[in-house]
Amino acid sequence: MADPITISDLTKVYREGQIEVSAVNRLSFSLREGEVVGLFGPSGSGKTTLLSILGCILRATSGSLKLYGNEVSTLPEEKLPAIRKRYISFIFQGFNLFPALTAMENVQLGLKMKGISGADAESRAKEMLAEVGLEQRLRFLPRDLSGGQKQRVAVARALAADSPIILADEPTGNLDHANGRKVMELLKKLAVDKNRCVVVATHDNRIEDIFDRIIYMEDGGIIRERRGST
Ligand SMILES: Nc1ncnc2c1ncn2[C@@H]1O[C@H](COP(=O)(O)OP(=O)(O)O)[C@@H](O)[C@H]1O
Ligand SMILES: [Mg+2]
Repeated sequence: MADPITISDLTKVYREGQIEVSAVNRLSFSLREGEVVGLFGPSGSGKTTLLSILGCILRATSGSLKLYGNEVSTLPEEKLPAIRKRYISFIFQGFNLFPALTAMENVQLGLKMKGISGADAESRAKEMLAEVGLEQRLRFLPRDLSGGQKQRVAVARALAADSPIILADEPTGNLDHANGRKVMELLKKLAVDKNRCVVVATHDNRIEDIFDRIIYMEDGGIIRERRGST
């Protein structure tokens, strides 16, 4: 079977007036099932841009993106929502929770976008929130949750959707060490237990040991790669 993600010569150029920035510069790699991959690099190195292209939220300027062997970069815009629905869960930087919805409702909304609603969605949301240790907080609004708890709701939403590819942008950025590790361990468990492909953009070197593979970026390019310690 084809790898979940294969890119070749992938490039993204942002144009603003006369100025061009190559945020992603001719990158090529394949990512496997069951692999937890870290995209490391300083701010501005192109991590968010790359992750957004992998998640079919943003289109590359040139080059190829294949998901499970299917070319995505040449598909028309209107096909992309279906691709995202089928393959991708995205954990955004800064949680992206709806402030007026409870933890349960936020997770259920994620399920609704995948076409699951009603009693199914409810029991699944409950199960996932329990999985991330929030069974006592189902009816809490985001403002009544700590940063770590909010991030765990965002992880539960991604878990519930049960997508084969999970992309997370700086998921530990707003968390203290203990909560950051908890979130990463949940993502790791998902890769190991369910053979998911998990890609995490981060510059948090406290969590380096979690990754099976680390790709170090600078100025849109790969400067170094390491296969992990685990
Ligand atoms: N929407 C945009 N328009 C123009 N330039 C952008 C845009 N988004 C990001 N950039 C530029 O692209 C480069 C990579 O940014 P980004 O992907 O956000 O990196 P990182 O996530 O590693 O901080 C930076 O130079 C940034 O200023
Ligand atoms: Mg970023």
